[in-house]
Amino acid sequence: MKGTFVLTWILIIYLSQIAVQSQYYSEILPYDPEPVRVTNLHFYLHETLNGQNPTAVNIAQANITNNSSVPFAILAVVDDILKIGPEDNSEVIGNAQGLGLLLAGNTTTGVMYSDFGFTAGKFNGSSISIFSRNTIIEPGREVAVVGGRGKFRMAKGFALLTTYFLNATAVIIEFNVTVIHY
Ligand SMILES: *[C@@H]1O[C@H](CO)[C@@H](O)[C@H](O)[C@H]1NC(C)=O
Ligand SMILES: *[C@@H]1O[C@H](CO)[C@@H](O)[C@H](O)[C@H]1NC(C)=O
Ligand SMILES: *[C@@H]1O[C@H](CO)[C@@H](O)[C@H](O)[C@H]1NC(C)=O
Ligand SMILES: *[C@@H]1O[C@H](CO)[C@@H](O)[C@H](O)[C@H]1NC(C)=O
Ligand SMILES: *[C@@H]1O[C@H](CO)[C@@H](O)[C@H](O)[C@H]1NC(C)=O
Ligand SMILES: *[C@@H]1O[C@H](CO)[C@@H](O)[C@H](O)[C@H]1NC(C)=O
Ligand SMILES: *[C@@H]1O[C@H](CO)[C@@H](O)[C@H](O)[C@H]1NC(C)=O
Repeated sequence: MKGTFVLTWILIIYLSQIAVQSQYYSEILPYDPEPVRVTNLHFYLHETLNGQNPTAVNIAQANITNNSSVPFAILAVVDDILKIGPEDNSEVIGNAQGLGLLLAGNTTTGVMYSDFGFTAGKFNGSSISIFSRNTIIEPGREVAVVGGRGKFRMAKGFALLTTYFLNATAVIIEFNVTVIHY
C-alpha cells in the first residue's frame, strides 16, 4: 500500500516534469552585457568571376534586363576567398559565403548578404555577418557589419572597402573592418 503511494507520487512528479518541459517557456532577465571589445581586421577579398573555378556565379537574372550593358537585377552566389594580402599566393584566412545582388541604374550599386568566416588564427571558426548596400563602382565605400558568430558574438560595426584590382574576371577588394563584440 505504501509502495503504491510512493510509486503514485513518483509518477505524478514524473508526469508534471514532462508537462513542465513541454510548456512554452520564456524568461526575462535584466540585460547584463559582457564587456565589449573592439577588433580591427584587415584582409583582402579575392573574387573570380569566370573560368574554371569561379567564386561568384550568377544564378538568376531578369530576362527583361539581360541585354543591358550594365548588370541589373542579377543575383549571384558568392564563395570568395579571404587572404592576408592582395597577391595570388597570399595566405588564405577565410571565405565569404553569401549572395550578391546587383542593381544598376547609373550608379551600379549592389546589396551584399555575406558571412565572412575565418579559418585561421585566433578567429578560426568565427564569422561576421555583413548585410549592406554596396556602391560597387566607387573606389572607397562602407558596408555594415550586423552580427557575428563565435568570438564575434553580438558583433556590430562597419567595414571600409577599397577596390584594389578589378578586371572582367578578377576582383580584389581590401577590407578594413572595425567591430565591437563580446
Ligand atoms: C526572354 O525575353 C525574350 C524577348 O522578350 C522572350 O522571347 C523569351 O522567351 C524570354 N525568355 C525567358 C526564359 O523568359
Ligand atoms: C536581347 O537581345 C537578343 C539578341 O539581340 C534579342 O533576341 C532579345 O529579344 C533581346 N531581349 C530583350 C529582353 O530585349
Ligand atoms: C537575353 O535573353 C534572350 C532570350 O532568352 C536571349 O536570346 C539573348 O541571347 C540574351 N542576351 C544576353 C546578352 O544574354
Ligand atoms: C544616368 O545616365 C544618363 C546618361 O549617362 C544621364 O543622362 C542621366 O542624367 C543619369 N541619371 C542619373 C540619375 O544620374
Ligand atoms: C581551424 O579549426 C578547425 C576546426 O576546429 C581545425 O580543423 C583547423 O585545423 C583549424 N585551422 C587552423 C589554421 O588553426
Ligand atoms: C584579370 O586579371 C587576372 C589577374 O591578373 C588575369 O589572370 C586575368 O586574365 C585578367 N582577365 C582579363 C579578362 O583580363
Ligand atoms: C582602418 O580603419 C581605421 C578606422 O576605421 C583606420 O584608423 C585605419 O587606419 C584603417 N587601416 C587601414 C590599413 O586602412
